[in-house]
Amino acid sequence: MQFINIDGPNGSGKTTLINKIKDHFEQNGKSVVYTHFPRYDTPIGQAIQTNLAEQTKMHPSALQMCITADRLNWSTNELEQYKQEYDIVLTDRYNTSSLVYGRIEGLSTDEILYNQQKITSPDMHIVLHLPVDVVLDRIYQRDNQTRRYENRANLEEAIDLFKDIKNHIPNVYLLNAEGTPDRVFAQSLELINQHYTR
Ligand SMILES: Nc1ncnc2c1ncn2[C@@H]1O[C@H](COP(=O)(O)OP(=O)(O)OP(=O)(O)O)[C@@H](O)[C@H]1O
Ligand SMILES: [Mg+2]
Repeated sequence: MQFINIDGPNGSGKTTLINKIKDHFEQNGKSVVYTHFPRYDTPIGQAIQTNLAEQTKMHPSALQMCITADRLNWSTNELEQYKQEYDIVLTDRYNTSSLVYGRIEGLSTDEILYNQQKITSPDMHIVLHLPVDVVLDRIYQRDNQTRRYENRANLEEAIDLFKDIKNHIPNVYLLNAEGTPDRVFAQSLELINQHYTR
């Protein structure tokens, strides 16, 4: 089984890219499963969702613990099952996102990494990188609504912190995601092929 995480700022094109990767591998006869994090359809996910929607108030460390706890449950339950059933597991955000949004909320890198110790690591992470103006355009294109962290200052901070992830987590590939969806997909495929034929 290959386990690949796609991450990047809000609106950077993660879901668009994952759908292209999934279609490509399925057309080549592979079985592919895709999970979007944070999950909202689990008991912990419900707590995360109400907090992100600012309907409840959690300590920022508690929120990150919940987000990390849900990934730990997934990696010990669903992922173990997927290993038997699928050729490729794709995640839309994973531990890399905590390192960005946890730090925006004031947590230290050490605290975030400590809490993630028991989570199964993906083989590789593709992190989308692009200028803030392009991200803002894509967010407006997406649904004309903005969510938490989708203002210029937070996006700039997130872009910088995503760039820094490779200094803390192995097998992170930063990809310039300014191109068309097909171009970003082609670049990603190249990275995936390179990674697995090293
Ligand atoms: N390479 C690209 N070039 C131009 N537009 C793109 C590209 N990739 C995605 N888009 C468009 O940008 C918007 C955001 O893309 P997408 O929803 O895939 O991003 P995301 O990273 O999954 O966002 P979110 O964090 O909200 O889940 C969509 O309208 C999508 O069609
Ligand atoms: Mg998305």
